[in-house]
Amino acid sequence: MNNYDEVTQNYKKWYLDLKEEKIFEKRRLEFLEYHQKKGVVRVQVEPTKRCNLKCVMCPIDEIDKEKAKDDLKLEDFELILTKLPESVTNICLSGLGEPFLNKDYIKMVKLASRKGYYVEVYNNGSFFNKEVLKYAGEVNFSVDGIDEEVLKNIRKNIKINKLFDSIKEAVENKGKCKIKLNFTANYQNYKNIKKVYDFCEIVGIDELQIQPTSNNYAIGGSRYKNFKKFIQKNGEIDWSIFSKEYSKNYNFKLTIWYPRKMKGFCAWGFSNIYITKDLEIINCCQRVTKPIVFGNLKEESFEEIYKKMQWFREKHIKKEDILICNDCPY
Ligand SMILES: C[S@@+](CC[C@H](N)C(=O)[O-])C[C@H]1O[C@@H](n2cnc3c(N)ncnc32)[C@H](O)[C@@H]1O
Ligand code: SF4
Ligand code: SF4
Repeated sequence: MNNYDEVTQNYKKWYLDLKEEKIFEKRRLEFLEYHQKKGVVRVQVEPTKRCNLKCVMCPIDEIDKEKAKDDLKLEDFELILTKLPESVTNICLSGLGEPFLNKDYIKMVKLASRKGYYVEVYNNGSFFNKEVLKYAGEVNFSVDGIDEEVLKNIRKNIKINKLFDSIKEAVENKGKCKIKLNFTANYQNYKNIKKVYDFCEIVGIDELQIQPTSNNYAIGGSRYKNFKKFIQKNGEIDWSIFSKEYSKNYNFKLTIWYPRKMKGFCAWGFSNIYITKDLEIINCCQRVTKPIVFGNLKEESFEEIYKKMQWFREKHIKKEDILICNDCPY
């Protein structure tokens, strides 16, 4: 399903018009009000904190090895499902880590889907198992480029043939499951976008999402400071290229999450909730390595923890400083 007109309009709406602060502020308040009224509709559950890759933009190796050792247990996932409010419709069963490394991953996707949830899967293609297609609503593959040198520079240790074979296998066996690609834009890969579009078209991808790279390292640490240079270089990205290169004739849908020129468009803590493999409810999927822990589902109800998060939501609405959110584009 092509959405050429929407892509062209969104470039103006989310990238150009927003230079005007008044429009921006109005949209920001509408956005937060919408997400507050909605209630929690989507939870992200982390199957593991382990990964086989070392992507340049990912802070996963900041996590203490000891803390990352055990994955989410099947019985703990069952407990999570008993605690979710009725408003939840979507479960993203991927966090910071490679979900297929959890030995019970397929069982979890199956369980959530049998309970009626729309399950989102994000993976790096290394251990993809097509069994998941029977249960997931969508499977996303992270593809940050097509050219070998581009991809290998970003996704360290990636086995390129395995990634592209997995994507093709997924498309061939997708049934009702949507197959999507996730492209995290940076100054090294954005010029590769036309090749990514052509790949999507040839292979038969349903949707491509493009998002900016954010500095997800722990605030204040040396790695955070180091990565700032990478983020600054991303200022070179010509974001118009993504809508310009998208053709009316493509058959896949395109979603572009533009880097925000003004902060405050963040639904985390409102309609989106992140649950770690240890069942903690934390701030969001962006700053995961040293998070704010609001509570633990092993000890409290979802509603009790959600109530304790009120200060976090209020600060977002009032645009007050939250240390963990500093420099986050959302
Ligand atoms: C954290 S990964 C987890 C799932 C799986 N390991 C993968 O790479 O697809 C989910 C998505 O977050 C993206 N990501 C990683 N670091 C990021 C960053 N600093 N800013 C924005 N997106 C990032 C990845 O490119 C990937 O598409
Ligand atoms: S982005 Fe995904 S694949 Fe890359 S290191 Fe992070 S968790 Fe692993
Ligand atoms: S760091 Fe803060 S602003 Fe950024 S996504 Fe997380 S909660 Fe939202």
